[in-house]
Amino acid sequence: MILGDRSEVLRALLPEFADGVQLIYVDPPFMTGRTFRVGAQDASATSIAYRDIWQNDLDGYLQWLYETFYYLYHLLAPDGCLYVHLDWRATHYARVMLDELFQSPARGGGLKNEIIWHYQSGGRTQRAFARKHDTLLLYAKSSDYTFHGERVGLRRGKEKRNHMRKEVDENGQTSWTIRSAGKLYRYSEDMTMGLDDVWSDISHLHQKDPERTGYATQKPAALLERIILASSEENDLVLDCCCGSGVTPGVSEQLGRRWLACDQSEVAISVTLARLLRQNRRNVFALQSVKMIE
Ligand SMILES: C[S@@+](CC[C@H](N)C(=O)[O-])C[C@H]1O[C@@H](n2cnc3c(N)ncnc32)[C@H](O)[C@@H]1O
Repeated sequence: MILGDRSEVLRALLPEFADGVQLIYVDPPFMTGRTFRVGAQDASATSIAYRDIWQNDLDGYLQWLYETFYYLYHLLAPDGCLYVHLDWRATHYARVMLDELFQSPARGGGLKNEIIWHYQSGGRTQRAFARKHDTLLLYAKSSDYTFHGERVGLRRGKEKRNHMRKEVDENGQTSWTIRSAGKLYRYSEDMTMGLDDVWSDISHLHQKDPERTGYATQKPAALLERIILASSEENDLVLDCCCGSGVTPGVSEQLGRRWLACDQSEVAISVTLARLLRQNRRNVFALQSVKMIE
């Protein structure tokens, strides 16, 4: 676990880990113009987690993002996956930058998914449709990237989801059929169905959620579980260079992955450390400005 600015930290990791990280998840500041705190999100909370304030300097923010992506690209393994978590403010800029970095038509690299994480929490504006989704861009360096849709699929079940025909046999077992190009396809209710790219089944953490650490912008463990299970194997190395409350290292640890986590915020590093200690991970190394302090 490393306390420091992501460019300094990622540059320091390059000599040892270039092309060596199987999964990267990054949930950077979204250019919201806000200060995020620990606990209450008003000025009564004294501890500032981080400032997402760029003085309306879009160029400066994009330069920051580009540098981050540049280092992440070079750390990512040839069969690795990068997930970039953003929202309506910057996703489109990120796609252009990532397309440039990951373009390798011969190797089949590039954008693999634009995942919409749809949730209900937060307010509703009167002046536009309510903004209720984040976007996760999934990029890979080659067509050999790790992907296990079956691990995170859904049981097809008895519920009607599309235009397939429902059949129920004498034992009460449901199956679904569809004819396409003269061929009949049959799926039983127990079969696993691959997930699509709109995720509405994972909610934001509500105020009283036991998972909450108090760190603003904390993402739910279920989101990381899905990503880590789909895009890495046991013992693979997972990196998050804006780890915030430590959800990525925490879930990686639970799922038997190795991990590297960094954040520039001391509060983030201490919340992450506390999370890992709660999970009984005793041999965590905390590094400060790329120097070992513990
Ligand atoms: C949206 S939050 C991440 C939340 C995290 N995914 C979680 O679930 O708790 C963004 C994080 O980026 C960190 N950050 C901002 N600028 C950074 C920088 N230059 N280097 C490293 N981390 C940075 C912030 O401190 C903050 O923790």
